[in-house]
Amino acid sequence: MCGIVGYIGKAQAAPILLDGLSKLEYRGYDSAGIAVYDGEHIVGKKAMGRLKVLSEMTHDGETMPGTVGIGHTRWATHGAPTDENAHPHFNESETIAVVHNGIIENYLKLKKKLIDKGYSFQSETDTEVVAHLLDYYYKGNPLEAITKVMHRVDGSYALGIIFADQPGYVYAVRKDSPLIVGKGKDGNLIASDVPAVLKYTRDVCFIENEEIARLSEDAIEFFNVDGEPIEKTYKTIEWDVNAAEKGGYEHFMLKEMYEQPKTVRDTLSPRLKDNDIVIEELGMTDEEIREISRIRIVACGSAYHTGVTAKYVYEGMARIPVEVDLASEFRYRNPILDEKELVIIISQSGETADSLAALREAKERGNTTMGIVNVVGSSIAREADKVFYTWAGPEIAVATTKAYSAQLIAHYLLAIKFARVRGTITEQEMADYITDLKRLPDQIELLLGNKERIQRFANRYVTAKDVFFIGRGIDYAISLEGSLKLKEISYIHSEAYAAGELKHGTISLIEEGTLVSAVVTQEDLYKKTVSNIVEVRTRGAFVMAVTNEGNTEIEKAADYVVYIPKTNKYFTNSLAIIPLQLFSYYVSVGKGCDVDKPRNLAKSVTVE
Ligand code: M6R
Repeated sequence: MCGIVGYIGKAQAAPILLDGLSKLEYRGYDSAGIAVYDGEHIVGKKAMGRLKVLSEMTHDGETMPGTVGIGHTRWATHGAPTDENAHPHFNESETIAVVHNGIIENYLKLKKKLIDKGYSFQSETDTEVVAHLLDYYYKGNPLEAITKVMHRVDGSYALGIIFADQPGYVYAVRKDSPLIVGKGKDGNLIASDVPAVLKYTRDVCFIENEEIARLSEDAIEFFNVDGEPIEKTYKTIEWDVNAAEKGGYEHFMLKEMYEQPKTVRDTLSPRLKDNDIVIEELGMTDEEIREISRIRIVACGSAYHTGVTAKYVYEGMARIPVEVDLASEFRYRNPILDEKELVIIISQSGETADSLAALREAKERGNTTMGIVNVVGSSIAREADKVFYTWAGPEIAVATTKAYSAQLIAHYLLAIKFARVRGTITEQEMADYITDLKRLPDQIELLLGNKERIQRFANRYVTAKDVFFIGRGIDYAISLEGSLKLKEISYIHSEAYAAGELKHGTISLIEEGTLVSAVVTQEDLYKKTVSNIVEVRTRGAFVMAVTNEGNTEIEKAADYVVYIPKTNKYFTNSLAIIPLQLFSYYVSVGKGCDVDKPRNLAKSVTVE
């Protein structure tokens, strides 16, 4: 989604803005722009397409002198991705410049009122309304104008604002869209995400809803929506700036796939203590765990897929009934929640609009909420009653891999913990589960080592039109993710089906040479899925099977087999997903797609 950067200090602003925006490219965007105060005027430059177009246009910022500025990468929502619609947006006299993330929901009504008052608009965006509204209220006091605008606009916003007659300040405002400020040595910054400021500072402060920050060269002040000063605390970002760089890998996605053994270890180890699982940060008593009547998992995309796997794990191990909901559906269907239901929201970014809205809905109904979140200090992490952090580090590629793997680990740990407390597994069973969990990082490493074989296979499928992924039980959940990975980065149509469901319609799509990926890791369902493999193969499909070591019999039914090391039946997702990730990655590379930034997609979906 869109990205925001702002700078005020001793250095030239434009190169810092361009550099900061480059760190936000992973969020997905289709145009970019910057505005810099040159000592007399605010000068803006915008360009459709990649950031490098803007960098070339401004000679890496050199042609835009000035030490105060704001910048933006736009992912189009209101109006096509054009130069006109790119941010920053200005008031008519170009004395106020605004960059915006989020959606102003009542912009049409406001736009009409402003047009009636004689304002004219250059773009189709909702953001331009903010620029004109600021102009309307501005009588020399920026804070007053900003708070008035905040009272008029509905929806979500993170705003960066500069005023030509107040060149010593950059303003930042937030409601339901993330925004941080960074306290630097030679200047201060605003950004919609931490990587944009890490080169300049590790001291950041998260702006909360309806708060305003006023940055000058050497000070940062905060105000509430009534313009009253407030105190805020800063956080030191511990993770390394290199974690957000490619480090020699061709793509972030490849790097992040290779980080999975570490991610799994980092998520596991702080919670494993002498053959016990201790999740202190949740502050959940055994009594509270025993009282859970149902678990409701709510998430989007891949995070939702980990929820589908988790259903089998919580129900199987801890015998707690589980419902899994897509966040975008949950929030609008007036869901029936039992008061003892634990609502788990899963999100890598912690900012996904639908997941955040679902969290708020559950909280409003009085349910206990838990966030399984990767980005520290993100909205979901801050607002959930309990937070389980997945220690995956920054994930840059739009297609999630390591955060997905870390989310699975979070579920396994919670399920074992809940099962032990509720007495549905013995101490010995828990010890066995922990032994298997500890083996996962090495087993993932082993599978990653097999990448050349998968690459050769993937190269045969770069021209595929349709691919089907089938499996039963947890294997179905794995298939959902395998299918999403392939389609989102290679643009090849793919679908995941519960293997037994295929014959109820979709099997008619199978023709000579159609690739079907069958995941067969659940021993009790092995024979059933093999029968489904035979069904599709008889109709001409070429079958790639992913199964457990030792199941060599499958070679009679499938055309190509990938074996995964043995683990407990509940944990096979963590291993079987690796060849499927590699397959998608190499198909995408083979097709020459933009692996890390697939078209139309954004890393953090902050609009509904
Ligand atoms: O940040 P979140 O985990 O809340 O994001 C959820 C989905 O948008 C995300 O998993 C998406 O499906 C990815 N593109 C999958 O690779």
